[in-house]
Amino acid sequence: MKFISIKEAMQQGHGSVSVRGWVYRERGSNKVKFVVLRDSSEVIQCVISKDDVGEEQFAVVSKVQVEASMTITGDIKKDERAPSGYEIHVKEFEIVGESDTFPIQKDQSPEFLLDMRHLWLRSRKMTAVLKIRSTVFGAIDEYFRKEGFYEYHSPIFQSVQCEGGSTLFDVPYFGKKGVFLAQSWQLYAEPAIFSLEKIYTISPSFRAEKSKTSRHLTEYWHAEMEAAWASFKDIQGYGEGLLKHIVKKVLEERSDELKTLGRDPESLRPVLEKPFPRITYTEALKILKEKCDMEVEWGKDLRTIEEDKLSHLYDTPLIVTHYPKAVKAFYMKETPGEPTTVHGCDFIAPEGYGEIIGGSERESSLDKIKERLLEMGEKLEHYEFYLDTRKYGSVPHGGFGMGVERVVSWICKLDSIKDAIAFPRTMIRYTP
Ligand code: 4AD
Ligand code: MG
Repeated sequence: MKFISIKEAMQQGHGSVSVRGWVYRERGSNKVKFVVLRDSSEVIQCVISKDDVGEEQFAVVSKVQVEASMTITGDIKKDERAPSGYEIHVKEFEIVGESDTFPIQKDQSPEFLLDMRHLWLRSRKMTAVLKIRSTVFGAIDEYFRKEGFYEYHSPIFQSVQCEGGSTLFDVPYFGKKGVFLAQSWQLYAEPAIFSLEKIYTISPSFRAEKSKTSRHLTEYWHAEMEAAWASFKDIQGYGEGLLKHIVKKVLEERSDELKTLGRDPESLRPVLEKPFPRITYTEALKILKEKCDMEVEWGKDLRTIEEDKLSHLYDTPLIVTHYPKAVKAFYMKETPGEPTTVHGCDFIAPEGYGEIIGGSERESSLDKIKERLLEMGEKLEHYEFYLDTRKYGSVPHGGFGMGVERVVSWICKLDSIKDAIAFPRTMIRYTP
């Protein structure tokens, strides 16, 4: 017997088909049983009548529970009344795996669904999100390879901080201290541009975030790039190109899944069609004051609330540049002629989804980097390998990091970043 997917069966539209999957819904009388079967591709209503399958088999299917696995062979027909427009009139079936009473019923709390995550992955919602996520990962690889980047991998056990000590996860390492989980690949990527010039990765990053927000995970997937000879403008261009490519791929391949999630695909179209606005931090403060009646003191970092206000003014991601040096990481390049700001940029997603990309041109002055590390209380000897990048043929360079779950969350219009990953990890959630 050759099995095809439910979607393929619907495309065939008539004649005999064999499909397999799980019972999504069931109801019936003592003569006819209706089983809605789902597989990874679709759902379809299957009609099983006592007359067609015989008394004995009908007794078996009468007792079938939601989430039992089945194979079904029958005739497929168009039927306007059926949930997905098609129906299979079953001639033969087999119950492959019985199911206990499925613990997930209608209208359950988000916390319960997180406890039952291993089972909730089967939902139409999670299936749609995970398919879109897969498309996003594929698009990232495709974009960077098309642009001539090599895939390059940095260690996850690291001996230095990159994004500040407060969100470092310490790892007990054979009784030694000073080993942390990666916050970013960056400090181990910069040495490699002297070999490969243009590199990227998609890898997990870890942040000991104490905040319980809809956009923070403790373990997230980080798409990062680093390029030799790249200017600050080039970095922004790569970020914009990447996001446009991701959205293009999702619109081409996953419009149905977006609709399943209640996201109108057309609402993402401006991302493809319009250039992303680029404003400086100082201009952002002016816009916040004039258009949003919000006063931010120059030098303070933009908070979630301010990013949200700004994001609602645009229908594409917004690029904010030239942040105050004091609020940004030690490796960002001081703006030439303007030592109070840096060549750093954040991409802020529309609709209040926050910062999706953070990047910068890298500081080239060895002395300035040392000075900033010392200001942070870091020991220079730990950074010797990194400082060597500025000693032996340093070149202008830069890169960025994109939080993949933040992007998926925005594209899918999710309420929480936790639904953008199969098994989310937060301060309070590390099971199952
Ligand atoms: O802005 P961040 O901290 O930048 C870096 O890590 C740089 N070293 C990247 C680079 O230049 N190679 O993080 C980059 C992105 C953020 O813009 C955000 O999208 C995401 O990573 N991110 C998180 N996503 C989910 N949960 C968290 N706790 C995140 N923290 C950062
Ligand atoms: Mg950032």
